Amino acid sequence: MKLNNQNLLQTSAFINGEWIATENSFPVNNPFDGSEIAQVSDCNKKHCTLAINAAKEAFKIWSSFTASKRSKIMKKWFQLQLQNAKDLGKLLTIEQGKPLPEAIGEIKYGASFVEWFAEEAKRVYGDVIPGHMKDKRITVIKQPIGVVGAITPWNFPSAMITRKVAPALAAGCTVVIKPSEWTPLSALALAQLATEAGFPPGVINILPSMKPEEIGTELTSNPDVKKISFTGSTRVGKLLLKQSADQVKKVSMELGGNAPFIVFDDADIDAAVNGCMETKFRNAGQTCVCTNRIFIQHNIHDEFVDKLSQKIKELKVGNGLEEGVQVGPMINKAAIAKDEQLLEDAVSKGAEISIGGNKMEGQFFEPTLVGKLNPEMEIFKAEIFGPIAAVYQFETEEEVINMANDTNFGLAAYFYGRDYAKIWRVSEALEFGMIGINTGSISTTVAPFGGIKESGFGREGSKYGLDDYLNIKYMCWGGI
Ligand code: SIN
Repeated sequence: MKLNNQNLLQTSAFINGEWIATENSFPVNNPFDGSEIAQVSDCNKKHCTLAINAAKEAFKIWSSFTASKRSKIMKKWFQLQLQNAKDLGKLLTIEQGKPLPEAIGEIKYGASFVEWFAEEAKRVYGDVIPGHMKDKRITVIKQPIGVVGAITPWNFPSAMITRKVAPALAAGCTVVIKPSEWTPLSALALAQLATEAGFPPGVINILPSMKPEEIGTELTSNPDVKKISFTGSTRVGKLLLKQSADQVKKVSMELGGNAPFIVFDDADIDAAVNGCMETKFRNAGQTCVCTNRIFIQHNIHDEFVDKLSQKIKELKVGNGLEEGVQVGPMINKAAIAKDEQLLEDAVSKGAEISIGGNKMEGQFFEPTLVGKLNPEMEIFKAEIFGPIAAVYQFETEEEVINMANDTNFGLAAYFYGRDYAKIWRVSEALEFGMIGINTGSISTTVAPFGGIKESGFGREGSKYGLDDYLNIKYMCWGGI
């Protein structure tokens, strides 16, 4: 693969500031055509322990730096990410599949966390609390929690790393990262830029591995790891939570979603269609905040569906590197099989597919529109994670709130309408951690990303994002 900065194509593990080639390797393939991009180091428990030890040593140095010194190194890393955005984007498209403009967008989004938290590093303020007794004073300080184990997903191979690592580094923590085995190259490219930015050895460690359970077990059971931050499926999140419980580790969990997208009959329908396209087909439907269930009020249903159908038919599917492509390949065959199975179940229970519905040659799935759905179908309960727009009808506000909340997930929800009182009521009633009101685009560095219910806990981004990497200590001063 040709990049302008060929140094970004790294294939070894990154431990204690060094590239470590392991005995075994595994292939990383392009989801567009299955071709092998590179053989990458396959880390095991031994490498994970080494990385944790390195991070523990580096913590002594990194946490002792002034916030301003940490901030300067982080800003350099941010600038390098922007300077190399085209190459990083290309690498991301090749290993993950999303269209190049979207991939470059992810690099910029990811870099924005580094910039934001480089600033926030300087604002880790404590408190002075009025004492409860005449001779007492109370002060509060915040301290970095220690070594952080970060386990990140394939759907955002770059931004989900920076969204965890940037607040951790800003707080003074050091990190051991296990990127997804499907997309380790973007992670390793970030490590290369981290060395150029001047991070001391051991502050950032990256362990590509085909043995996620082995690495996960070491991260959750090694007492030197003080915090686990995970983005991925609810199934794996529950496993990591159980494993972390033995040592009562601090944990952040960004898990699955089942986002409702509600359109009330007073909405701007064209805006709602555009918002729906944006949140449904981003990354071929493979994000945790992608619209999963589209609820349309009965009297605007046909108009909305006609307009949505038009847009879906216009989508260009193909190689993410090709100009104009909007929907890239799916990450693997299992993702395609899951979507086929969801549609099969829905159709067997009365659903009607009006557009698409099939896998395509290669690793693609047709942008699909399916209607006549109901809550008894699997597609209502499962996270689709594919380019399938699933449309339901509703009559009343109460009915749609009940349907929207009828899920164990609670990550993102969206709705369109104009009545301000209804907007307030619906926002309060939806049991989700993030609400998009008249927008399908909610992800930004400056807002607290995160869910409730089985979508997890902990917040990433914004001023709240730092808290997950800090311990609070209070000092009670007596005899004053
Ligand atoms: C995710 O799918 O987990 C992240 C999506 C985003 O940051 O917008």
